[in-house]
This record gives sequence, C-alpha cells and structure tokens, in this order.
Amino acid sequence: MNDPKFRLAARSGEGKFYLETYGCQMNQNDSEVVAAVMQESGFEYAASPDEADVVLINTCAIRDNAEQRIWGRLAEFRGLKRRRPGLLVGIIGCMAERLKDRLIEREHIVDIVVGPDGYRSLPELVRQAASGTKAVNVLLSREETYAEISPVRLDRNGVTAFVSIMRGCNNMCAYCVVPYTRGVERSRDPETILAEVRDLFERGYREVTLLGQNVNSYRYGEVNFAQLLARVAEVSPLLRVRFSTSHPKDLSDELIDTIAEWPNICRAIHLPAQSGSSRMLELMNRKYTREWYLDRIAAIRRRLPECSISTDLIAGFCTETDEDHVSTLSLMREVGYEFAYMFKYSERPGTKAQRTMADDVAEEVKTARLTEIINLQNELSLASNRRDVGRHFEVLIEGTSKRSTDEVYGRTSQNKVVVLPKMNYLPGDYVHVLITDCSSATLIGTPLC
Ligand code: SAH
Ligand code: SF4
Ligand code: F3S
Repeated sequence: MNDPKFRLAARSGEGKFYLETYGCQMNQNDSEVVAAVMQESGFEYAASPDEADVVLINTCAIRDNAEQRIWGRLAEFRGLKRRRPGLLVGIIGCMAERLKDRLIEREHIVDIVVGPDGYRSLPELVRQAASGTKAVNVLLSREETYAEISPVRLDRNGVTAFVSIMRGCNNMCAYCVVPYTRGVERSRDPETILAEVRDLFERGYREVTLLGQNVNSYRYGEVNFAQLLARVAEVSPLLRVRFSTSHPKDLSDELIDTIAEWPNICRAIHLPAQSGSSRMLELMNRKYTREWYLDRIAAIRRRLPECSISTDLIAGFCTETDEDHVSTLSLMREVGYEFAYMFKYSERPGTKAQRTMADDVAEEVKTARLTEIINLQNELSLASNRRDVGRHFEVLIEGTSKRSTDEVYGRTSQNKVVVLPKMNYLPGDYVHVLITDCSSATLIGTPLC
C-alpha cells in the first residue's frame, strides 16, 4: 500500500496478477473466468507471485484440511508482503464465501475477499484495495453464470478443457458446505455453452468436460441435460465429451441412452455413492438408497457395457457403525469401481450435520476405515486395469509423459491414462493402442498400425 508506483498502476489497471487455484474442477474453471475478467480490465497475467502486484488465491472449503492448506499458504505470503508492502493479497472462491471478512480479521495480509459470484467486480475491488481500503464482495447471486465470458485457458494442454454449464447446488447433502459457498443452482444458456465449445474445437481442443455440481439437473428453458449433451456431441465427431458430476438420484435412462447414441460421449460416468449403507445415505440426505444406486449401475451396464464407473466415498460420517462401513466395502466390490476419490468425514460449520448431529466417529476409526477403503479400491483399480491388458482402445494424446520424454500419455474414452512410445504423436492426435501392461494407476500401451 505504501508503494505509490503500484498504487497508480493498479488504479489504471496495469498491474500484474498471479493466480493460484485449489479445490475442484469448477474452481479451476472459475480461475479461467477470473483471468479473463482481469485481463479484459487491463491486468496482466504473472507466472509467479514475485512478479505480481496482486496475488489471488482461489480457495476450497470442502474439508477442514483444504482450509488449513490455505492458512499455511497465507503464512508463506507474509514474508513476501513484508518485503514488498505494496503487494495485494486476495482470497477468492469458496473459503472467501464461507468466512467473509473474518478472513481479514484473522489474517491481516489479506486485502481482498471475493466469493464465487463476485468475480466481475474483482478489477474494481483490486483498485479499491490499492488505494488503501480493504475490499469485500461475498454476495451470492441467483442468476450469475458468467455465460458470455470466454475463460482464459491457463495451464491447459491445448487438448482438454472444462466448460461450466451450471453453478450452485440445491441438494443440501447434510455434510456439504457447497450450497452455502456457491449458492442456489442455476443453468447457463445452452447457446453460450455451444459457442464456447465450438470455439474450443476450432482452436484445436479435442475434449470438453461439462461441469456442474449435479449436471443431471441442468435445465434451461426446454433444454435438459441429455439434450444439451447431444447438442455438444454434435459439434464434431472428433470432439470427446465428458461431464461431471452426476447425482445418482437424477441419473435418467434418457441420459444413458444419449451416451449410447453418441460414440464421442465418453464411456465414463462419475457417480458419487458416498456410502453403501442406506441408513447413512438417509442421514446424509442423499435422497437415494443402496438399491436405487445399484439399479442405476445396472441400467448403465445394460446400455453401456464398456462404461467405466468411478465414485466419491466418505468414511466415518456421523453414527457410522462397522456394519455401515462393511456395506460401503461391499458396494465397492459389487460395482467394481474403476476409480474413487475417498475422504474422511470432516465436519463443516453451518451444515445440517454440524447443526443436528454429533461428529461421533473417533478419528482413529475414521482413519482405519478410510485405509480399508483405499486398499480395496487399489485392488479394484488394478483388477480393472488387468482386464484391459490385451485389449485395444482409442487414446487421445494429451502430452509428453512426466516420467520419460520418449513417451507420451493420453486417455481412453473410459478416462484411463495410457502411456505409450512417443513416435511422432502430437497432443490432440487419436491413436489406436494395444494395452500390453498396467499398474493400478496407469495402462501401458503400444500403437496399432
Ligand atoms: N457435487 C458433487 C460433489 C462435490 S464435493 C457431488 O455431489 O457428487 C466432492 C466430494 O467431496 C463429495 O462427493 C464428497 O464425497 C466429498 N465431501 C463433501 N463434503 C465433505 C465433508 N464434509 N467431509 C468429507 N468429504 C466431503
Ligand atoms: Fe455437496 Fe451434495 Fe451438492 Fe454435491 S450434491 S455439491 S455433495 S450438496
Ligand atoms: Fe469445489 Fe471446494 Fe468449492 S470442492 S465447490 S472449491 S468447496
């Protein structure tokens, strides 16, 4: 603040912003919207905090450890701010929405706090902070979808991109903070979605992932999610289409049929179960039972035998017994998940679970159950990958392998990573690959000529 040169720069919109992102794919895509808003207003993107006039941290609040990471990161920025007192620090995203100005009270280096629906006001708030007044905008909106903003694709590989189709969530799962940090559900105009997808395809992108907390409840006028998906798939047979996340309660037969009709809609469904126990699902307010969930899995298997299925699981939610936990393990075996994100329950202030239930599963028990879940998933992932050895797949190349510059990697329609010899392949190429070996995380392949 006492650097008059920067004060001027930021006021006239010539400062540089550095942007760091935590949390889910929606947050990553939001950062691309933030970059677009900032650049449009005259700010330049900085690749490191050292070059920046303003550091923006796009935060996650889903579990306590996500927030602890941000506090740790802020402590690291204290030193930088001491050396360069004119540096501005902005906390944006879900933790900003949850904690509001309490963030500034607890960490004095924070100058700007902006929630997920306030990004259009960021440039103005940065200028306000540069003139010495701390700036906060945590208003949630019923309409904001950033529909016409073209996200700036930061750190993308030029092949795969995220496209948000809706914001917010109305589901009120008892454990979850998202409805409070992102507000009510609203869908984005399909014409703006299609325009963005066509533009990505013309710029060489070959895969889009349509994002929302529950894409199955997308609705804009007459257009539902299955119809939107078909229209996106129609853009080009060379464009792969993925989507995340599907809520099991709303996974319709119409959607499964639409996937079956379009070969370029990927054979991969992420269907978070959270638990295998109907008693837990009821307490979690998930609005489906184990039987309903398994019926949806059967419907997928019938119509899409090649489809991979992944999930999210929570260990140790309120009152969870050994029997409930065993139900989760048996569900995992029964479905044979290809992949899972697995978490220990973390109580979040303000949620229904925090207000009305005791977080009564001991930490050691949560840890032991999570370990069992992870070990079982490793087995299931390895078994699934072993079944792929000897089969062939079309792989979309994304880039050079991290392990060796002689190899490239890409993904199958089922969303499995395949590593193969580099040859002359470029990101964006489709290659037919025979799978020759695997680990629990990766398939190893050789091109079929
Ligand atoms: N909208 C998505 C999930 C978004 S959050 C869906 O409903 O599928 C991603 C995952 O984080 C959730 O699926 C859940 O497994 C996990 N999660 C959410 N709140 C949590 C909490 N309080 N403790 C532990 N895990 C949580
Ligand atoms: Fe959270 Fe449930 Fe909404 Fe997913 S559907 S974001 S878990 S409230
Ligand atoms: Fe995503 Fe975390 Fe917010 S998971 S929606 S960034 S709380």
